[in-house]
Amino acid sequence: MKITKICCIGAGYVGGPTMAVIAQKCPEIQVTVVDLNEDRIAAWNDENIDNIPIYEPGLDKVVAEARGRNLFFSTDVEKAIDEAQVIFISVNTPTKTYGKGKGMAADLKYIELCARQIARVAKDNKIVVEKSTLPVRTAEAIKSILDNTGNGVQFQILSNPEFLAEGTAVEDLLNPDRILIGGDSTPEGQNAIQALVAVYSNWVSADRILTTNVWSSELSKLTANAFLAQRISSINAMSELCEKTGADVNEVAKAIGMDSRIGSKFLKASVGFGGSCFQKDILNLVYIAKSYGLNEVANYWEQVIIMNDHQKRRFSNNIVQTLYNTVADKKITFFGWAFKKDTNDTRESAAIYVADDLINENAKIAVYDPKVSKEKVLADLDYLETRAASINATNVLSFDNPYDACANSHAIALLTEWDEFVQYDWQKIYDSMQKPAFVFDGRNILNGPALEAIGFIYQGIGS
Ligand code: UDX
Ligand code: UDX
Ligand code: ADP
Repeated sequence: MKITKICCIGAGYVGGPTMAVIAQKCPEIQVTVVDLNEDRIAAWNDENIDNIPIYEPGLDKVVAEARGRNLFFSTDVEKAIDEAQVIFISVNTPTKTYGKGKGMAADLKYIELCARQIARVAKDNKIVVEKSTLPVRTAEAIKSILDNTGNGVQFQILSNPEFLAEGTAVEDLLNPDRILIGGDSTPEGQNAIQALVAVYSNWVSADRILTTNVWSSELSKLTANAFLAQRISSINAMSELCEKTGADVNEVAKAIGMDSRIGSKFLKASVGFGGSCFQKDILNLVYIAKSYGLNEVANYWEQVIIMNDHQKRRFSNNIVQTLYNTVADKKITFFGWAFKKDTNDTRESAAIYVADDLINENAKIAVYDPKVSKEKVLADLDYLETRAASINATNVLSFDNPYDACANSHAIALLTEWDEFVQYDWQKIYDSMQKPAFVFDGRNILNGPALEAIGFIYQGIGS
């Protein structure tokens, strides 16, 4: 089957950039991205390319090139499903906030809604591709819904997990380490796999396109995220030990990273990992393991989350302790709110939890993030439901300019590794602050000795 029309349900951090790159690289394929959220679609269609809803380096250029040519954003979900041969499902799969598996399992209600809608609308055979990260054996559920509620047409379900990281999404999509496609071993399944392989072959070399069965593909995605998160929790565990012993975690990371069996990437000690994937996917893995009675497996992976929570709490506790055991009514400046640099995404960002702890201690938090608005900061805190929204609003101050954010502040907590933080005029910042002026570098990106020479009391992670 030759693919000429693709539909993607969900215009978020995964669906938007992925489809933009497919459209850019496959000008002969019409790609339509649909979403129920009208504002989001309107933003993707905004004539001013700076207003597209997701900030990713290079994404504006890709969208500008393909949009209106063979890339379309629409709220007409049914029309796009009807026309397409391939339908990607890229809707959100948050952790359940209710019922069985609350706080652990993935909430599949959006996936199920998509499956039912596809079944209702489809009048010819379709390939349905799971793009969102899903619990193992979700494909089976999707297949069952499609086969039992559809119009007698054939569906092939493929798993094609996305491995892009935010902040480098376009680069990751253009030069992926691998493309993973899982499908049935039947001839129809294999044909569907080959149809999708042909799409990616427009820009990805054959040796980087891996095909497997559906379950291996689904589980590989959860495993990859669990391993990546585990490295961070492992180095963060060492960071605490380094602080007690006089070792330096940066030196330790460098030394172990040179062992080619370990590798040097993903060994940066930090205030804790965030993002929409790591915690959710591990909780999901833990839930699946428990549901099979595999308690040792579940406990092993759960420890990665426990360590991460500890690292966030340790950071806020240390701020309180260092500031003479009270931060009440003290202005604490946060540099960064996003969960990592080069993104406006704040989901599960460590900054949210550190701020929540400090507000419990009656601190005033002055946030400066180059890409995150005050509304988003407050929405993130309100979502925790720790206290009334009105109290969050009086305890969070927001600034458009980093220097104003620091004036009269007692301490700076660096939560996101934005490059610009390193370039600031730190003497000017020091002069405007209360003394002693503290810097808590949750990302180890600042030059500690240089700051100490100015007069700051500087603390990084793990040294
Ligand atoms: C180890 C370290 O590799 C070495 O750097 C250190 O100096 C001493 O300890 P060693 O114990 O000799 O070396 O062997 P190693 O190759 O690391 O294997 C250790 C065990 O892990 C073996 O039982 C091996 O079979 C097992 N292993 C290794 C696996 O089960 N799976 C693997 O992928 C790798
Ligand atoms: C991750 C996976 O990398 C990606 O393959 C998957 O598709 C989605 O989940 P993402 O969450 O976008 O991507 O960002 P990632 O770069 O993995 O960072 C996750 C978190 O870990 C961030 O908060 C980051 O700051 C933190 N991190 C990362 C560290 O604290 N130390 C490191 O060494 C690396
Ligand atoms: P991700 O990081 O996985 O891309 P996002 O939350 O950024 O997650 O994006 C998911 C998108 O999917 C949201 O914009 C949401 O409105 C959309 N969505 C969820 N369910 C449906 C549905 N049934 N039909 C169309 N769009 C949907």
